[in-house]
Amino acid sequence: MKKGLIISFEGPDGAGKTTVLEHLLPLLREKTDRNIITTREPGGVEIAEKIRDVILDVNHTSMDDKTELLLYMAARRQHYVERVLPALSEGKVVLIDRFIDSSVAYQGAGRGLDTEVISWLNDFATDSRKPDLTLYFDVDSETGLARIAKNAEREINRLDLEKLDMHQRVRQGYLELAEQETDRIVTIDASQNLDAVVASAAVEILKSLEAEA
Ligand code: TMP
Repeated sequence: MKKGLIISFEGPDGAGKTTVLEHLLPLLREKTDRNIITTREPGGVEIAEKIRDVILDVNHTSMDDKTELLLYMAARRQHYVERVLPALSEGKVVLIDRFIDSSVAYQGAGRGLDTEVISWLNDFATDSRKPDLTLYFDVDSETGLARIAKNAEREINRLDLEKLDMHQRVRQGYLELAEQETDRIVTIDASQNLDAVVASAAVEILKSLEAEA
């Protein structure tokens, strides 16, 4: 049996990674016989989806930053144990819409919480498992926010309502992470049109699947 893999999709709000993921899946299934599943954070399993609702409720304006961080971590742990680990043990390729880097970018760079504490909590939640590949979809904050405003079908959550400077710090956080972790994080220019972004993502994923073969 082939080794299970985690491929995470990261990016600021409005980068379009969720749409890319939807378009990518049928394409990948055509090109590889690996068993691929998709899931998301926060959420992906019942308990974590309930935590997601609590975190992202637009009425929860009094939520403390550390509470927010701990809730993301609780959702991460439950999703990891209940959905990711079993899939990995069956040799599947798990595509996750957001994972550990979101906490470093949003709660670390965005909210200003200690990134060492966040890294420690990430390790605690995932037994120190890192993604085998991370696609970082990069888009400037103005473009990202304009896309959110235009997309009527997208849920508006509590974090979307943050001011422009928070979104800019999040992007900066991602750019720094991508510079530090070049062995795992590949940056994709998400300001290109959807087909081009999907094609770039497919190339990177197929490359990493071939490297495992
Ligand atoms: P989504 O809109 O991509 O589903 O993500 C929901 C929001 O949660 C998004 O604004 C990013 C945020 N988020 C964090 O702030 N920290 C985290 O650890 C995760 C997984 C998501």
